[in-house]
Amino acid sequence: MPFSKRFTLTQYLIEQRRRFPGASGNFNALVLDAALACKAIARAVAFGELGGVLGNQDADLGGAINVQGETQKKLDVLSNQYFTRLNEWAGNLAGMASEEMEDPYQIPAEHVRGKYLLVFDPLDGSSNIDVNVSVGSIFSILRAPQDVIESGRDVVEADFLQPGSKQVAAGYALYGPTTMLVLSVGNGVVGFTLDPTLGEFMLTHRDIKVPVDTQEFAINASNSRFWEAPVKRYVDECLAGKPGPRGKDFNMRWIASMVAEAHRILMRGGVFLYPRDTKDAAKPGRLRLLYEANPIGFIMEQAGGRASTGRVPMLGVKPTSLHQRIGLVFGSKNEVERIERYHTEPAEVEMSNPLFGKSSLFRD
Ligand code: AHG
Ligand code: MN
Ligand code: MN
Repeated sequence: MPFSKRFTLTQYLIEQRRRFPGASGNFNALVLDAALACKAIARAVAFGELGGVLGNQDADLGGAINVQGETQKKLDVLSNQYFTRLNEWAGNLAGMASEEMEDPYQIPAEHVRGKYLLVFDPLDGSSNIDVNVSVGSIFSILRAPQDVIESGRDVVEADFLQPGSKQVAAGYALYGPTTMLVLSVGNGVVGFTLDPTLGEFMLTHRDIKVPVDTQEFAINASNSRFWEAPVKRYVDECLAGKPGPRGKDFNMRWIASMVAEAHRILMRGGVFLYPRDTKDAAKPGRLRLLYEANPIGFIMEQAGGRASTGRVPMLGVKPTSLHQRIGLVFGSKNEVERIERYHTEPAEVEMSNPLFGKSSLFRD
C-alpha cells in the first residue's frame, strides 16, 4: 500500500475519538506518550551493545534486584525511566505502576494530575535481551477512582486493584525484526508497524482476529513435574498427536517473552500456558496480573480469543495486590475453553490419566 493511503497511529486515534464526541483528548495524548516511550525503548534495544545497554543493572546505579526478587537488566531500568518520564508531564495521569517499582509512582508536584492510571511491564522477556531475541513492553490504561480525580491526592495500591474488564485500553510493543505496536481501545485490535525513518507507527494490521482453533501450544515444559492434573492432561493429549484423543498433531513453541508469544498467537492462533503450579507455594503462577495477564487478556478477548486463569476468565479477577502473580492461559478460544473444562471435569481426568485411574496410587 502506498504511504499516502496509510494511517498513522495519531490518525487512527483521532478516528476512534469520533465515537466519543465529548472526549477531552487526554486519552489520545496518553496513548501517544506511551507509544513514544515504546519508540524510545525500540531505539535503545536496536542499538544493543553499541548503546552500552546490555547486561545487568549495576548495583551502584540504583537497584539491581526488583520487587519481584529478579535481577534487573540495564534495559529494564532504562525502559522504566522512559515510561515514567514521557508519561508524567502531560496532565493525563493520576499515577502509574510498574513491574520495576514496588510502590505506585506519584506524578511529581510540578505537573498537573489527570484522570487515568497507567500500569506497565516496561520490558517483557528481559532474559532475552542479551541473546538478541525479541522483547516487548506491555501497558494497561485504567480510569482513576473518582475521588482521586476530584482531590488530586496521591495514588495508593488500592486505586489500581481493578479487574481487567475495567481497562479502557491495553497495548504492547514488540521489538522484533520490526517494531510493532498492537493496541485495543475497546473496539477490536489493530497493529501498527514502526517506520523507523519517519518515526511513526503506521497502521498495518486492521481488525486482528485470533483463529478459534489451533495446533500450536506454548508452555515451559521444564515445569512439567509441578503442573496440576488438568494441565498435564492437556499437554499429554497434545503430545499424543494424531493417534491420541485429539486426533491431530501439535507443534510447540517457547520464546520466553510472553509478549512475543502473544503476538504469534494473534497472528496465527495458538495457546499459551503459564499455569498455576506447585513449584513455589508463595507464587500462584509466574506472570503478573495487572501488567501482564490483564492487558494481554484484554487484547486477546478483543481479538475474539480468550484469556483465563485456567479456571475463570482473567478479566473478571479482582486483584488483591499490585504485583500479584496468577496462572495465565490465553489464545485460541476453543483451546482455552477446553483447558478450563479440564479444570472442572475430574471424572474425565480419572478416565484418561492412568495416574488417577482405579488402581492408581492417588486413590484412597
Ligand atoms: P519479565 O522479563 O517481564 O520478568 O517477564 C518474563 C516472563 C515472560 O515474558 C515469559 O513468558 C516468562 O517470564 C518466561 O518464564 P520462564 O523463564 O519460566 O520460561
Ligand atoms: Mn514480563
Ligand atoms: Mn519486565
